[in-house]
Amino acid sequence: MGSWIQILSIYYLAWFSFFVVNTVSDESGYDEDVKKGNVVIDGSSVIGNIDDDFICATLDWWPPQKCDYGTCSWGLASLLNLDLNNKIFLNAVKAFSPLKLRLGGSLQDLLVYGTDDYNKPCTPFVRNASEMFGFSQGCLPMPRWDELNHFFQKAGAKIIFGLNALYGKSVHRGHTERPWNYTNAESFIQYTVGKNYDIHGWELGNELSGGWSWSKCLCRSICL
Ligand SMILES: *[C@@H]1O[C@H](CO)[C@@H](O)[C@H](O)[C@H]1NC(C)=O
Ligand SMILES: *[C@@H]1O[C@H](CO)[C@@H](O)[C@H](O)[C@H]1NC(C)=O
Repeated sequence: MGSWIQILSIYYLAWFSFFVVNTVSDESGYDEDVKKGNVVIDGSSVIGNIDDDFICATLDWWPPQKCDYGTCSWGLASLLNLDLNNKIFLNAVKAFSPLKLRLGGSLQDLLVYGTDDYNKPCTPFVRNASEMFGFSQGCLPMPRWDELNHFFQKAGAKIIFGLNALYGKSVHRGHTERPWNYTNAESFIQYTVGKNYDIHGWELGNELSGGWSWSKCLCRSICL
């Protein structure tokens, strides 16, 4: 439980910083009402502690077709296409050992897992402007999950995996309907446990209570 609190506190800090930076420096015209403001942080009350050796990074799911501000910067940096045989990458992760790697981001709530219960073709994300975040549902094939875990084991990373908390729900701007369908997440966890992959933490949904999120949910609707 302690480590969960630690991770969550860092996570909220990261989210908070992102939000502040984004709000102040966003020049894309996305939010025309951007105003500068002052943020006061009450440092006198500690809400969580992190390990002395805490260092954390994220690997995301965005495909090469993800473009912002005229640049498609993701290239082959996704969990689905990253070159796991790249020695520089391996050594970089090793150098921070034990690096906590959080696997997730916006598309995690559109990701399904190619386990036995998922009886449709396990296909990657495809661009579709009508869908949340501009992409269709994508799938993580289990052979790729195996390769990723072998890499994490070799590199000595600790993994925090962000589960899809919107599977089975229908999302309209501002709220969600229908219960979470957990069967695919459950079989993914079972597969992972069956393979003895060591997962340091499971995260449910990507920042779904964040006011800025496209898929803003009432917390109550996703709490189990
Ligand atoms: C794009 O998404 C919409 C909404 O889910 C769907 O109706 C449509 O068929 C999709 N288009 C393609 C090309 O898959
Ligand atoms: C939940 O998802 C599984 C696939 O993972 C599907 O077979 C099942 O029908 C879904 N359940 C509901 C209630 O939609």
